[in-house]
Amino acid sequence: MIRVLFADKAENWPRYEAALNAAFAQAGLNAEVFQPGEAAPDSIDYIVYSPQGPVQDFTPFTRAKAVLNLWAGVERVVGNATLTQPLCRMVDAGLERGMVEYATGHVLRYHLGLDATLAQQDGIWRHDGGVPPLARNRSVVVLGLGALGAACAHALVALGFDVTGWSRTQKEITGVACLSGPDGLNQALSRAEILVSILPDTPETTDLLNAQTLALMPKGAAIINPGRGTLIDDDALLAALNTGQIGHATLDVFRIEPLPPEHPYWAHPRVTVTPHIAAESRAETASEVVAENIRRGEAGEPFLYLVDRARGY
Ligand SMILES: NC(=O)c1ccc[n+]([C@@H]2O[C@H](COP(=O)([O-])OP(=O)(O)OC[C@H]3O[C@@H](n4cnc5c(N)ncnc54)[C@H](OP(=O)(O)O)[C@@H]3O)[C@@H](O)[C@H]2O)c1
Repeated sequence: MIRVLFADKAENWPRYEAALNAAFAQAGLNAEVFQPGEAAPDSIDYIVYSPQGPVQDFTPFTRAKAVLNLWAGVERVVGNATLTQPLCRMVDAGLERGMVEYATGHVLRYHLGLDATLAQQDGIWRHDGGVPPLARNRSVVVLGLGALGAACAHALVALGFDVTGWSRTQKEITGVACLSGPDGLNQALSRAEILVSILPDTPETTDLLNAQTLALMPKGAAIINPGRGTLIDDDALLAALNTGQIGHATLDVFRIEPLPPEHPYWAHPRVTVTPHIAAESRAETASEVVAENIRRGEAGEPFLYLVDRARGY
């Protein structure tokens, strides 16, 4: 019998109970799932984890073969000094589609100028005779070409956008101008009419969008940030919004969540706040990933989506 601890928030258990048990059965695993406190930590083989759950000290889990994070982001666990087990992050089809829908939806909002259209429903026929640009005339940049960024880049290409992507290591993605490294970042930003940042939170990505880098973007550019709040120097972004260097920002993630009511982003006319809803792991598909990793662990095969702890993601 494989003993699995469900170390997410207790309120998420009803969503996961049937899904995890079905995924274990489907994978041919004879597994039993325990809630925190139900089983001795040194009897647990795998920990299904989220940073919101009750486990912060992994020391007593002497037998655990892996910690299987239900989130894509690992910044709240990757530096945990008590963690000696392999750490896997979540790459889930449901999470990916959610991010694709969020990113493409907000890119289209900016591309089509929907805010202006919706705000001017006042009986005045404002056709200036101009021809609105097609997606192919709109340069969209995706920072981060991992599981989520690459999926968003593909979807934006399918919609016809002129897509540039940037990552730490060089990528090749059909239809996407792929750039990497510091020079690549400068080039990418200089063409970003609409920027989508889907980078992880690491020491290298902290404040990546700051006064210098925001100044490289075309005047009036839009920013969509479903990555992590730490990617943006908030004071620099507010200053750039106030000068019009950045035309608008849609922010899903923040240094402090929930975003405090007094934060200037709430009242800023050129900021849209969404409450960290860009993409959620879905119990059914995430459970299949957990089950596959447990199957691999039991078979002595390499885990999927293993986090490189030195790299931080
Ligand atoms: N808002 C939400 O609801 C939500 C939901 C899920 C995830 N997220 C966020 O999305 C992030 C990305 O998820 P993912 O599954 O796509 O992660 P991933 O597969 O690990 O991809 C990360 C990407 O970022 C690139 N990268 C990392 N550090 C970099 C650096 N210093 N310079 C340039 N590129 C760098 C990586 O480059 P290489 O490919 O070269 O390694 C990779 O392309 C998560 O970490 C999380 O913060 C947000």
